[in-house]
Amino acid sequence: MKKLMSIGVAVEAYAKVNFTLEVLGKREDGYHDLRSLVVPVSLSDTITLTKAEKTGIEITAENPIIDLSKMGAPEKNLAVRAAELMREVGGIKESVHIKIQKRIPLGGGMGGGSADAAAVINGLNELWSLGLEKQKLAELGAQIGSDVPALVLGGAVMMEGRGERVRPFDCGGSRIEKGGKRYWLVLVNPGVFSSTPQIFKSLKHIQENRLEILSNMRLALSKGNEELVAKALQNDLSDAAFDAYPEVASAAKALKDAGALGVLMSGSGASVFGLVRNYEHGQEVQAKLKDFQWSVIAQTCEI
Ligand code: C5P
Repeated sequence: MKKLMSIGVAVEAYAKVNFTLEVLGKREDGYHDLRSLVVPVSLSDTITLTKAEKTGIEITAENPIIDLSKMGAPEKNLAVRAAELMREVGGIKESVHIKIQKRIPLGGGMGGGSADAAAVINGLNELWSLGLEKQKLAELGAQIGSDVPALVLGGAVMMEGRGERVRPFDCGGSRIEKGGKRYWLVLVNPGVFSSTPQIFKSLKHIQENRLEILSNMRLALSKGNEELVAKALQNDLSDAAFDAYPEVASAAKALKDAGALGVLMSGSGASVFGLVRNYEHGQEVQAKLKDFQWSVIAQTCEI
C-alpha cells in the first residue's frame, strides 16, 4: 500500500483464481456451503482513495474487453458499499473519492469487484487509522460479498462456509522449508459475462464430500510439483458454466489444446486458467490462443 502524502492511499487489488472449489451443500439462506482454495494472482486493479466531502467513484479501463457500461449503478458498486460500511464502522464524518483503474475482466470469476471492495476495506483501515485486525476486516467484507473476506486476508486462503470463514492456507511443513512457490498461469477470458447466481441455481446435483480433493492439492503443493497441482485442480461449478456458456467450454478446450498442464475455470466463470511450467511455456501457450481477445500470463502469490 502506498501512502499519498496524508490525503490518500493507493492499493493494488489483486485478482484471484480458485485452485479447488467444492460445493458441499445448499443452505437454508439460499447460499451454498463451499470449500475453496483461493489464490491471488499478479493481475490487479489499482485503487486510489482520497479524502473528499462526498463519496464519489471514477472507473477507467484501457482494455476494450472491460465494458464499463456493464458496471451497474455507482451506489451498488461493491467498492462504494465497502467504503460506506467502513465509514459507518469507524464513525468517520468525511467521505472518500474512489478511483479504480480496472484491468480485471468483469463477471470473470477472478473476483474483480470483490478485490476492489477488499482493497477499499484495507485501504480505509489505513487511511482513517482505524486499527482493525484482519479477521475483523474479513468479517466486514462478508457483508459485501462472499469472495471479499478471502481477498481482504490476502495470500493463499482456505475459504469455507458461504465464504465468510477464511484462514491462511498451509500446505504442510515442506512449504516452509522451500519458502513457498509461485505458479505460472495463462488466464483467458472468453468475453462473456457469467452470472454467479445463475450458475449456482443451475447446479444439477451436489456431490458427496470428497476429502481427497483437498488432500491431493495439499500434497501437490507441498511437493511444489506443477504436474501434480495440474491434476488436483477441481471446480464443481464448471459443468454448469460450460452448459450455460459454450464460450467458456471453448476457452478451456483451447487452453488444453495449446498445451497447458492443467486447465480450470475460476470461481463461477467466465475466465479459465491454464497452469504452465514457466513464463516461456506460458508464452508458447498464449501464442496459440488467437481466437481470444483477452489472455494474460500471470503468477500466483507464494504458496
Ligand atoms: O455473495 P455474493 O453476492 O457474491 O453472491 C452472489 C450470488 O451467488 C448469491 O446471491 C448466491 O445466489 C450465489 N452464491 C451461493 N453460495 C455462495 C456464494 C454465492 O449460492 N457461497
